[in-house]
Amino acid sequence: MKHVAVIGAGTMGNGIAHTFAQSGFKVNLIDISDASLKRGMDTIAKNLDRMVAKEKITEADKAETLANITTFTTTEDGVKNVGLVVEAATENVDLKLKIFKQLSDVCPEDTILATNTSSISITQIAAVTNRPDKVIGMHFMNPVPIMKLAEIIRGYNTTDEVTNTIMELSKTLGKVPVEVNDYPGFVANRILMPMINESIETLYNGVAGVNEIDTVMKLGMAHPMGPLQLADFIGLDVCLSILEVMYNGFKNPKYAPCPLLVNMVRAGKLGVKSGEGFYDYSESRKAENVSKQFS
Ligand SMILES: NC(=O)c1ccc[n+]([C@@H]2O[C@H](COP(=O)([O-])OP(=O)(O)OC[C@H]3O[C@@H](n4cnc5c(N)ncnc54)[C@H](O)[C@@H]3O)[C@@H](O)[C@H]2O)c1
Repeated sequence: MKHVAVIGAGTMGNGIAHTFAQSGFKVNLIDISDASLKRGMDTIAKNLDRMVAKEKITEADKAETLANITTFTTTEDGVKNVGLVVEAATENVDLKLKIFKQLSDVCPEDTILATNTSSISITQIAAVTNRPDKVIGMHFMNPVPIMKLAEIIRGYNTTDEVTNTIMELSKTLGKVPVEVNDYPGFVANRILMPMINESIETLYNGVAGVNEIDTVMKLGMAHPMGPLQLADFIGLDVCLSILEVMYNGFKNPKYAPCPLLVNMVRAGKLGVKSGEGFYDYSESRKAENVSKQFS
């Protein structure tokens, strides 16, 4: 399997395409417009330049990686002849069901269909396809070319064979795959999101300020980044939506999103992507507040 398609050229999609292409795969990168594809390709080129500057790869590696990626604005054209599709489109259940229904119609029958969803049920997505045994979660972390983990999520019907293929393939990308089952939040977000929510609750209750909470967790627990800053990087809207999936999925009040998080999302304070969250990311403060590891 050396030819894959990636759906969505946003934050995660361009990172996934970059990672496959740098590992020697031919990648068809698909998005809805030429403008989104151009943004995605520009980001990949910029990230490769940074790797060249740090002498992690050569100019020739960069050129080869870029040459491995072809862009498409039509799914049907982009998924012909590929052994694997990794979907990384916007986190919206109706959109994902529509995409997988289409993939099921237009992909060769052996093609494995993977999704990078943070929270939507793999089993629910698989159920709209004609191959639920070949649908699997491939949950990469942001930024994809740097983060080692690939959380591999088995849907109810995913076979051992498909799971093993994806586990092995993840290793060829230089990732460390971890196999988990399909329940709300999987493992990563089931543990991370309650911690982030509790940090927001701690702020909301006036126990301590933003810097104090993050400093306690960084210096006291050896976390590389405080939970409130991490929430800003993930996007507060994304955190809210994952908590809602867990709250509804388990019917358990312990996952109820903090009212402060709900209010911030309603007010459009979404973190780094909107210029403000728990920290200020306006142009003048961005360098100060954006962690060096992501810059
Ligand atoms: N951002 C993160 O930190 C993170 C981490 C892990 C997983 N995820 C998951 O990855 C997925 C993508 O998230 P993102 O942060 O990259 O979002 P994003 O908004 O940055 O990018 C989404 C892209 O999908 C494209 N798109 C929308 N509909 C499409 C369609 N029908 N066909 C093709 N492309 C389409 C959009 O144009 C956009 O370019 C989501 O499922 C999200 O939950 C995100």
